[in-house]
Amino acid sequence: MRDRFIIAIDGPSGAGKSTAARLLAKRLGYVYVDTGALYRAVAWKVKEKNIDINNEVMLNNMCDATDIKIRLIDGEQKVYVDGTDVSSFIRTPEIGMMSSSVSSVSCVRKRLLELQRQFGKDGGAVIEGRDISTVVFPDADFKFFLNASIEERGRRRYNELKEKGMDVALEDTIVDIKKRDYNDSQRNIAPLCVAEDAVVIDSTGLDAEGVVEKMLKEIKKRQRIFKAGCSMMSFI
Ligand code: DC
Repeated sequence: MRDRFIIAIDGPSGAGKSTAARLLAKRLGYVYVDTGALYRAVAWKVKEKNIDINNEVMLNNMCDATDIKIRLIDGEQKVYVDGTDVSSFIRTPEIGMMSSSVSSVSCVRKRLLELQRQFGKDGGAVIEGRDISTVVFPDADFKFFLNASIEERGRRRYNELKEKGMDVALEDTIVDIKKRDYNDSQRNIAPLCVAEDAVVIDSTGLDAEGVVEKMLKEIKKRQRIFKAGCSMMSFI
């Protein structure tokens, strides 16, 4: 077990991953990484450049020619594409749907894999996404899968978009989430699924504090078991 852990959080849209991950990272003094923002950044550039996502050669060339960076500023993740801060532009429902489509293309996933691994290489990171526990960090120290009822996930996403001043309807938001759930879990490469060794948390009816309390409890429990195992080994 590392001194500073890699904590992976996966789950579908609206399960509360970002808020919980940010809060958990703050409590532990770790960095927080929202990997969905990277797929959204690619989708933003695809839209800007009017790239046909079915044309994998063009998409590959675009990925090769694109510089994507993320920075943590006052605990908030900022995303830059070729030097432009796109953090607020990537949060629209349209970019959300597009990011789900581009994320099923292998050259995109390949391009973003190494970038994601850079963030966790020294430990001390809470990283959230869809395939963190299964593909990006299969050896993460702690793995959580966060879920919630479709109604609650729809309501959360709807409230988030409304707070940002977007003109959206709850029913449409739920339809979008269902489509993304389908795309993200049925794609051939790195589909959204529960890792064998992940702890599943249902966040329905829980706020971010409640979710983080459950995670911290699990982390402490596993640390106790690990320490007990180590002292048994030194005894043997
Ligand atoms: O978490 P989000 O809604 O910002 O993610 C946007 C899309 O990016 C999501 O629909 C699927 C994709 N994604 C992915 O395929 N793998 C990840 N690790 C994170 C996101």
